[in-house]
Amino acid sequence: MRLGILIMAAGRGTRLKSKRAKVLHEIGGRPLLRHVIAAAAQIVPARDILVIVGHHAEAIEAAVRDTGVRFVMQEKQRGTGHAIQCAEQETRGYDMLIVLSGDVPLLRADTILALRDFHLREQAAMTILTADAPNPHGYGRVVRRKPGAPEVEAIVEQKALTPGMEGLREINSGIYVFRRRTLYENIGRLRADNPQKELYLTDMARLLAGAGRRVVAIEAAQLTEVLGANTIAEMMDLDREMRMAQARRLMAAGVTIFRPETVTIDAGVEVGQDTVIEPFVQLLGQTKVGSDCQVRSYSVLEDATLGDRVVVRQSCVIADSRIDKGALIGPFAHVRPGCHIGEGAHIGNFVETKKTRVGKGSKASHLTYLGDAEVGAGTNVGAGTITCNYDGVNKHTTVIGDRVFVGSHSALVAPVMIGEGAYVGAGSVITDDVPADALAVGRARQVNKPQWARNRRAQKEARKPGSTA
Ligand code: UD1
Ligand code: CA
Repeated sequence: MRLGILIMAAGRGTRLKSKRAKVLHEIGGRPLLRHVIAAAAQIVPARDILVIVGHHAEAIEAAVRDTGVRFVMQEKQRGTGHAIQCAEQETRGYDMLIVLSGDVPLLRADTILALRDFHLREQAAMTILTADAPNPHGYGRVVRRKPGAPEVEAIVEQKALTPGMEGLREINSGIYVFRRRTLYENIGRLRADNPQKELYLTDMARLLAGAGRRVVAIEAAQLTEVLGANTIAEMMDLDREMRMAQARRLMAAGVTIFRPETVTIDAGVEVGQDTVIEPFVQLLGQTKVGSDCQVRSYSVLEDATLGDRVVVRQSCVIADSRIDKGALIGPFAHVRPGCHIGEGAHIGNFVETKKTRVGKGSKASHLTYLGDAEVGAGTNVGAGTITCNYDGVNKHTTVIGDRVFVGSHSALVAPVMIGEGAYVGAGSVITDDVPADALAVGRARQVNKPQWARNRRAQKEARKPGSTA
């Protein structure tokens, strides 16, 4: 039994009111279509997944090409039935077809497999995945031959419901299995006799059942899995659903998440045991957090890799960087892409780093900018230190050795190097390399003028009207 999976993703998505393709809108930090492809790829190799594209085809193909799926073109979007018609040639090699919707992203592979198994057991021509929905408005409704029987008579779209049908709560998920030959032998009989003037794939149920073919339906275990995203609001409901599921998975694996409903965790994020995540944290992209870490409120981590026992205090932004074990970040630190903060290092309040490596145990505790810099181990970078890495045209590197002491409010004008064990006097502007173990002072000498202030006060006194001086 050769099995292919079709994913319908060509529609115009008019209800979304967006310039972007519906299936490229993101939930859980990934485009809808990627979630659907990921589920399908657990069942068949990527080459047996065919994505039907039309509206915004180029953007959609570019966004998922790396998954190895194939594409089928539906030039004009004349309905879900027409979409499947367009795939006739490309599906010639298959006996059985699973049809998924690009806008039903929470569907799990297990549910698809249960649907397939039910289809085979029932020896059906068409099998429909359904769900019991307390609020079925907008969905196609499934009309069973008899209540509780597996056989289906028809799927009736919302707009075609007759008054007696409003109470039907079994919704069509838009997910089906077909015996391929039967599908294409009959698909030409679809008619666009509906208000949209489209060919509805749903009409295949009535068509096949009417021709004496076996059409059956099975309910999904959970309603949420089969919900579609036709509007931004529906999409955000699914986003919340998916992130809560992700938070629950992490909590089940020993991660403490306070107020999980306020936390935003993308689908690809990993977090180690006994790590504590405070309210309003965002863990995005491919972020990996080790064990026994603390990520405090309002911090946003994107594509960050944290070792064990890292503490990220409140309101930090960390992007595309690596933080080694035991490091302490923040509060209010900004670690920009390309940083590697070493073991036990401290990046403190209002410190910004970019493309910078900070060695083991080094500290930049306050109000500092380190860009394109390399800082050794055991070094202390004083408050207000700035690497002047940009000359208006090019970026230059600052190298600071091990056990260096950079006094507060120093400007290090790159390219410049500060040797191991050296000292930089506070307030220095360092334009030349500092040899190892030297003291560099790059500032004007202080001048004290004795009695200057006292004399000035006396002059002022003398100028007052009525002064006898
Ligand atoms: C469809 C079903 C409805 C079901 C619901 C479940 C039909 C007629 N109705 O309605 O019974 O309850 O899904 O979510 O099928 N598409 C194409 N080409 C087209 C039109 C659509 O590829 O010409 C794609 C869309 O991109 C989308 C999917 O098919 O991914 C479903 O289309 P959509 O317009 O969202 O159908 P619904 O109105 O949700
Ligand atoms: Ca839909």
